[in-house]
Amino acid sequence: MVIDLQKEQKQSLNRPPLKYSASARFFFSVMDLAAGKQDTLAKAKLLEILACIPYREWEIRHYLRLTYQYHKRKKVNWSRDIIEWGRSAQDNEYMHLLVIQEKMKEDGLKDPWFLSTPIVVIVTTLYILLSKLLAWTNIKAGFRFNAEFEDHAEHIYAGMVDDNPQWERELVTNHVALEYAPELTNWADIFRRIGLDERDHRNHSFHFAGLPQHIVHYEGMPHEG
Ligand SMILES: [Fe+2]
Ligand SMILES: [Fe+2]
Repeated sequence: MVIDLQKEQKQSLNRPPLKYSASARFFFSVMDLAAGKQDTLAKAKLLEILACIPYREWEIRHYLRLTYQYHKRKKVNWSRDIIEWGRSAQDNEYMHLLVIQEKMKEDGLKDPWFLSTPIVVIVTTLYILLSKLLAWTNIKAGFRFNAEFEDHAEHIYAGMVDDNPQWERELVTNHVALEYAPELTNWADIFRRIGLDERDHRNHSFHFAGLPQHIVHYEGMPHEG
C-alpha cells in the first residue's frame, strides 16, 4: 500500500513531542549546544551516527543469551525478536546516514566541527558506554530512552522538511537515495520517509519496553515485534 507521506509528516508536526525524561532532555540539550538549536542536515548526520549504536548493544547482549540459554524457549523467542528488529533498524539507520552524506555532497555542504573524527570518536564512545550499561543492567530503560531519541528524531525530520520547501522541487537522481527509496522522486519525500522510519523505531522501542499505549498507529505501518 502507498503511504501518504505528507499526511504522516503533518501528523508528526501536529503531535507534541513526548514528555522526555530528565536524561533525554539533558542529552538533547548537549546536542543542541554542540550542533546548534536549528535542525540541519549536519545535526541529523550526528543523530544518525549515534542511532545505530543501541541496536548493536542489544544485539550483542541477546546473541550471548542465545548461546547460553538456547534451551529456554521463551527467552530464545524474545531474544530473536529483539535481534531481528535490531538488525533491520540499524541497517535502516545506517542507510539514513548514507543518504544524508549524499545530500550534503550534492548541496556542497561541508561537515562542521562536531563531525570531525576526534569529536565523533568521543561522542560515539560515550554513547556506546551508555547503551552498553543500559543493555546489560536495565534493557527496558534502554528501550524507553531509545523511544525518546527516535521521537525527537521524527520531529526533527518533520520540521526540516517544512524548513526546506526547495526539497519539494529537487528531483532525486542520487543512486544511494534511490537504493533507499526507489519509489520516491523528490528530496522532501525522502526526508519524510526517513522521519516515518524514526516513528517506526519509536513505536518498536515502546513495544519492547512494554509500553504499547505510546505507539502511534498509521495506515500501512509495519507490525510491532
Ligand atoms: Fe535514522
Ligand atoms: Fe531511528
